[in-house]
Amino acid sequence: MLKHLKESDRALYEMVHEELARQRQGIEMIASESFVPYEIMELQGSILTNKTMEGFPGKRYHAGHQVIDKIESLAIERAKVLYQAEHAVVQPHSGSQANFSVYAALIQPGDTILGMRLDHGGHLSHGSKVNLSGKIYNSVFYGLDPRTETIDYEELEAKAREYRPKIIIAGASAYPRFIDYERIAAIAKAVEAYFLVDMAHIAGLVAAGVHPSPVPYADVVTGTTTKTLGGARGGFILSRADLAARLDKATFPGVQGSMHMHVMGAKAFTFLRAGTDEFKAIMTQVVTNARVLGEALKAKGFRLVSGGTDNHLLLVDLRPKGLTGQALEKALEQVGITVNKNMIPNDPEKPMVTSGVRIGVTAMTMKGAREEDMILIAGLINEVAEKVSDTEALQQIALRAREIALKFPLYPGIDED
Ligand SMILES: Cc1ncc(COP(=O)(O)O)c(C=O)c1O
Repeated sequence: MLKHLKESDRALYEMVHEELARQRQGIEMIASESFVPYEIMELQGSILTNKTMEGFPGKRYHAGHQVIDKIESLAIERAKVLYQAEHAVVQPHSGSQANFSVYAALIQPGDTILGMRLDHGGHLSHGSKVNLSGKIYNSVFYGLDPRTETIDYEELEAKAREYRPKIIIAGASAYPRFIDYERIAAIAKAVEAYFLVDMAHIAGLVAAGVHPSPVPYADVVTGTTTKTLGGARGGFILSRADLAARLDKATFPGVQGSMHMHVMGAKAFTFLRAGTDEFKAIMTQVVTNARVLGEALKAKGFRLVSGGTDNHLLLVDLRPKGLTGQALEKALEQVGITVNKNMIPNDPEKPMVTSGVRIGVTAMTMKGAREEDMILIAGLINEVAEKVSDTEALQQIALRAREIALKFPLYPGIDED
């Protein structure tokens, strides 16, 4: 791995190997992470990175586009087939960029957008005041019903009727439940708003058919090819044919310049792989693992926001354990279990402290972890929660965590050069 870099930049080479060791030896449970197949790394490290290209297949601003046109068309076709969409834009450099393309395509600065509250699980790019989306557009928010900790559809409807947003956004970074797309689509129709679903987190689950697809209900769907899709590091947009020209134009020249061809190649492979039986089996296991981990944590006295999960992640309320998200994240990191602190609905703590952690199972499932491993991991998380300040105990737990991680070899042989 990196044999040329080894000669020319030893310091950086060693840092990459240090990170490889961390990924191999740790229990990776950041909900947005996955381990990509070799093909993704090959493509993202390929000569495709050399080509500068703007525009769309058949309408380019640089010569030498013949092969690039074929690759972009392949990525578009595969995305359309995978999600049964009429149109796909595969140029967005990230999920956030994809959302900005949609705003640029459909609304004007100053228009109102209605999204899910950030502190209830929404995403920065859905109108947060600290994000450009909340500065350019007038953003208003809906949240969770405090009784069920699921989306408060009545509040959503009331806000939609009161503020008459131009776009209603569904989709989240930390929401463990299915979303009723049909119901939100009806609300959007009633107030003449576009309906955007940001399926960044769940795009892999949707592709595999283990999570309802928003495509039949939304005007536009955005996503990332990372996270549960486990592929290229980038974003994409799906829509009906009638919005195609506007979304293309908003992406280029609207919010982006030239394409990242190495990532586009990797996206084409991501969409192919996500249609295979093998990928479907992994996604099925992801959902099973998340449920098993959730039940095991509940049995140890943790509280799950909304009581459980329908997808790949859990939002864990740590107050019954007398802990903050910050304290548990740090203690888990010491034993090699990586999660992130996360606000829970109506969290009394500040965003850098929080009362919760978000735990995802995609990465470990892609490594090969099964139900029995989830039960072991839940046990370790509980031990850590009970011994956050006991350095000696944490060192002992770290050995057991490493043993679990090393059961699943990651990229075997990749560093033998
Ligand atoms: C719902 C949602 N949308 C968009 C994004 C942004 O994706 P990116 O980090 O690729 O910009 C995320 C990332 O976590 C997300 O959770």
